[in-house]
Amino acid sequence: MQILDGKLVSAAVKAQLAEKVTELKALDKKVPHLAAILVGNNPASETYVASKVKSCAEIGFHSTLLRFDEKISEKHLLDNITLLNENADIDGILVQLPLPKHINEELVINAIDPSKDVDGFHPTNVGKMVIGLPTYIPATPYGIMLMLEHYNIPTKGKHAVVIGRSNIVGTPMSVLLSRNANPGNCTVTLTHSQTTNLKELCLQADIIVAAIGRPNFVTADMVKEGAVVIDVGINRIEDASKKSGFRLVGDVDFNAVAPKSSFITPVPGGVGLMTIAALLKNTYNAASQKVN
Ligand code: GUN
Repeated sequence: MQILDGKLVSAAVKAQLAEKVTELKALDKKVPHLAAILVGNNPASETYVASKVKSCAEIGFHSTLLRFDEKISEKHLLDNITLLNENADIDGILVQLPLPKHINEELVINAIDPSKDVDGFHPTNVGKMVIGLPTYIPATPYGIMLMLEHYNIPTKGKHAVVIGRSNIVGTPMSVLLSRNANPGNCTVTLTHSQTTNLKELCLQADIIVAAIGRPNFVTADMVKEGAVVIDVGINRIEDASKKSGFRLVGDVDFNAVAPKSSFITPVPGGVGLMTIAALLKNTYNAASQKVN
């Protein structure tokens, strides 16, 4: 069994980007600039956005964090997105999800200029991804593809079972794994809450991607010997022994599943770090469209 080390791979991606920033600076060109919008005080979202902003600084990108009260009106949020769309200094825009219930997420995503949509959530970019045109790939599935690539994990002809059909992870993951590319060329089964024979399907999987958001959901009896196991879950479990009062666990029962797997991602230290690395790559690409 080998651990897929998100720390190592994300550091490699970030080092490449930092080098590119150094080159841009040497040529007196503009460095990439990411704008992140955070609405409210969801603790997980706070952590994710803080990591994104910090990672920008680490590699020499500019970032701007716009924070709004949970009660912000939809109109005010949309107006701010318009300002970012029109601001030539901003290359990439992300709105951290989830948003408060009174705000229509779809409207907000649709308001982002597709050329600045570094999350790859805008319907224009989703459509491009599905038909294989160059575009921004949603950061989590993109990060997973970078991880598979880094470790040279064979995917051609393999059966991948993706658990969870969210727009952010499961659905784009199923598209990427099935397309004619390397990594890719998998036979993909996209499973969800209405799937009746999940265990049976998982036992046939050469690659499992767990993205349901339920702690320790994938147990050892669901995993074939030698499977590649990618754990997207970042679940907070109360733990009084921790200073923070919680610990993070994935969607996979790591201790039981790891001995059966050929490769497995840990939580933390796996996919989460790759998500940020992939977002930074998207932001670099957004900027270079203008730089070139
Ligand atoms: N919430 C959970 N994952 C993500 C992500 O990748 N991007 C944004 N914007 N919000 C999220």
